[in-house]
Amino acid sequence: MYVKRTLPATFRGRVLSWYRSSGRDLPWRRTQDPYRVLVSEVMLQQTQVARVLPAYARFLKRFPTLGALARASLGDVLREWSGLGYNRRARDLQLSARRSSRGLPADIAGLDALPGVGPYTASAVACFAHGHATPFADTNIRRVLGRAVLGRSATEREAVELDRRLGSRREPARWHHALMDIGATICVARRPRCGQCPLSSVCAYTGVDDVVRRRQPPFATSDRRVRGAILRALGHSRRGGVTMRALRRAVIDTRVPRLVRSLAAEGLVEVSERGVRLPAR
Ligand code: ADE
Repeated sequence: MYVKRTLPATFRGRVLSWYRSSGRDLPWRRTQDPYRVLVSEVMLQQTQVARVLPAYARFLKRFPTLGALARASLGDVLREWSGLGYNRRARDLQLSARRSSRGLPADIAGLDALPGVGPYTASAVACFAHGHATPFADTNIRRVLGRAVLGRSATEREAVELDRRLGSRREPARWHHALMDIGATICVARRPRCGQCPLSSVCAYTGVDDVVRRRQPPFATSDRRVRGAILRALGHSRRGGVTMRALRRAVIDTRVPRLVRSLAAEGLVEVSERGVRLPAR
């Protein structure tokens, strides 16, 4: 990772202490019941927090346990879901309950195999309900980690890699809640409030809007060409890699440092004090 050695600890410390004073107190963060955590994550997949709050309370009053949801009729479940939209989520949630008569799986692979549950939701439930220090990233996390380190929103793959490297192993739930909240309240897509951000002094974002959000990123094609050239140059170099200076001489383009950072975030290259190389493992 092309990040100064001291940066991860500083970064993590700022995020976690900001959360202690400024994080949002949301009802699904007060429980570790895997069922309740799953309900919240499924509701939050496509719906904003403000709309999820009353629906979450109502839904759990009606279906307080996995068994209660499994025994209900789908019609009742859909009725209770009304107002949230994307009703397939309700159907899948109930299907998950019906298939998990002995309780929801606790491992990521088991969760991921449930209907309507993808890698993000599986990891979020493993983290929030079971305390697993597993990396994951929703849109807010992608924006916060991406802007701070890469200067732009990260792709999901990049963000998961950044999360793996920067995240807290001791307090994974608090870490992810904090990033979500920084993304929702400070590092918003348009007009971020950088003056209030705990990461402003270590952040790479320059205020230029997200390249990855544009339909046709003007530099995407040539970025891809330069990325290819970087990887080819590394492929031809010694196994120990090359210094950044040598790489810039081999690939004559001002974007090399930035693109090396994004390649590193995706796990495609390794960066150390000695230089840049293709991953050894
Ligand atoms: N807290 C836990 N999961 C969340 C999510 N997906 N969005 C917002 N807050 C959350």
